[in-house]
Amino acid sequence: MDDARMMDWLIALHAGLPRLGPGRDTATRRALADCVGLPATPDILDVGCGGGASSLVLAEATAGHITAVDRVPLFLRELRTRAQSRGLDGRIRPLVADMHAMPLRSAAFDLIWSEGAIYIIGFDAGLTHWRSLLRPRGWLVVSELSWLTDHPPAAFLDSWREGYPGMRNVADNLAAASSLGWEPVGHFPLPADAWTIDYYGPLHARLPSFRADHADDPEAQAVADMTEREIALMADAAGICGYVFYILRRAG
Ligand SMILES: C[S@@+](CC[C@H](N)C(=O)[O-])C[C@H]1O[C@@H](n2cnc3c(N)ncnc32)[C@H](O)[C@@H]1O
Repeated sequence: MDDARMMDWLIALHAGLPRLGPGRDTATRRALADCVGLPATPDILDVGCGGGASSLVLAEATAGHITAVDRVPLFLRELRTRAQSRGLDGRIRPLVADMHAMPLRSAAFDLIWSEGAIYIIGFDAGLTHWRSLLRPRGWLVVSELSWLTDHPPAAFLDSWREGYPGMRNVADNLAAASSLGWEPVGHFPLPADAWTIDYYGPLHARLPSFRADHADDPEAQAVADMTEREIALMADAAGICGYVFYILRRAG
């Protein structure tokens, strides 16, 4: 199966889920609270927003305007519906775009947010290429899969060496951020069950109907198998690897 087909199946599997990656509203709010001194009505960019798990929280927690970027129109339609039902659609602008080349003015944002998505461009590349979109001293908040131990068990090393070879530990990500012109303001790990329960719970519950709907399609079954293997592996990941919030500020 080529990457594009795999992506289509993953989109189908995730359609309608409350969040498309590990996270939790309280963690989003905690990271936002670290951005001390944000303007009263900040301009916020949410990169890889999916169905809006964080955009909606940011719109509720601030009086700002959110530009919500994703390259999958289906997810942005879900975001629009959710924003309308909460009366937030006037302050959230969904934008279909590729995070590698977003059609946005430079210095247009006070805060760039990206939960579970910067790995797509790469941590260092995101910190480098998104920087010009921020106003001087603006904030960048990302959650990034990170090693939480210096001695991961072989099963995790083997799996993530293939799945995310660029994964680093927290100290190395903070050092990389500093060397790329960012001031680390704070960081904290997501609770392990923000992955295993908040994200995987609804995803796991979806698998039987997904398998049944695509019973004759070996590609769909392979994507379901892969997802089940990942869920089984990550059940024991606490203290080994997990998502970490990095709250960074443009140094200049
Ligand atoms: C793991 S999901 C996280 C979504 C959301 N932030 C959340 O926490 O629910 C990654 C998101 O990035 C989007 N994405 C993947 N490649 C992208 C690209 N090149 N440009 C923009 N968005 C992309 C996917 O469609 C998906 O919505």
